[in-house]
Amino acid sequence: MNAARVSRAGDRVSAQQPARGARAASAVTLWIGAARRMSMLLIACAATYVPPSPANAQSSADLSLAQQHWVLNCMGCHTATGGGIPGKVPPLAHSLGYFEHLPAGREYVMRVPGASNSALSDQELADVLNWLLTTMNHEALPKDFKPYTATEVSAHRRPALSDVATVRAGLIRDLHERGIKGVADRY
Ligand code: HEC
Repeated sequence: MNAARVSRAGDRVSAQQPARGARAASAVTLWIGAARRMSMLLIACAATYVPPSPANAQSSADLSLAQQHWVLNCMGCHTATGGGIPGKVPPLAHSLGYFEHLPAGREYVMRVPGASNSALSDQELADVLNWLLTTMNHEALPKDFKPYTATEVSAHRRPALSDVATVRAGLIRDLHERGIKGVADRY
């Protein structure tokens, strides 16, 4: 219906033809410009893309990926500095590393609901925990600390702890018995 009306109008007013042609031509120019910009963008992206390499697992690219997972999955509650929220969310910075002195503490860290139930894969969760421990917990880590692996996370992260407070209190007691007082019992 519309198309018929337009073409009839076009036939009658022939003076409109060049104007329409010019509009079409400028639309094509715009489109080519956009396509060219897009392809330049793609070339730029391709040039900066570095394929992940399993050989250097601790490379800075992996660390920044772990940091991104932290930002998207944990930081909202635990805050940017890892300081936590008084009365609500425990700190992870300068605290988490002390749990690593006990096998049960090492497991606790994988099984708290925020970690266990996160959308992260086993490898990604291992990377985030290792990133937290090595960047924010130097002084707290045992000397013989071994990074978490995907295999370990997969074997221990589930089921998520249902009674975090009781398990946490028991761990803090055990740490105190060993003279390790770095984890606050209240946060
Ligand atoms: C919705 C808020 C929230 C998110 C998101 C969250 N957490 Fe938590 N996290 C908590 C709370 C609250 C606790 C205290 C224990 C509990 O009640 O589960 C906690 C406790 C912990 C603990 C134990 C610390 C301690 O001192 O006992 C660890 C480890 C932890 N979270 C890691 C993570 C990691 C890693 C992520 C991201 C993958 C994450 N959390 C995401 C709220 C969150």
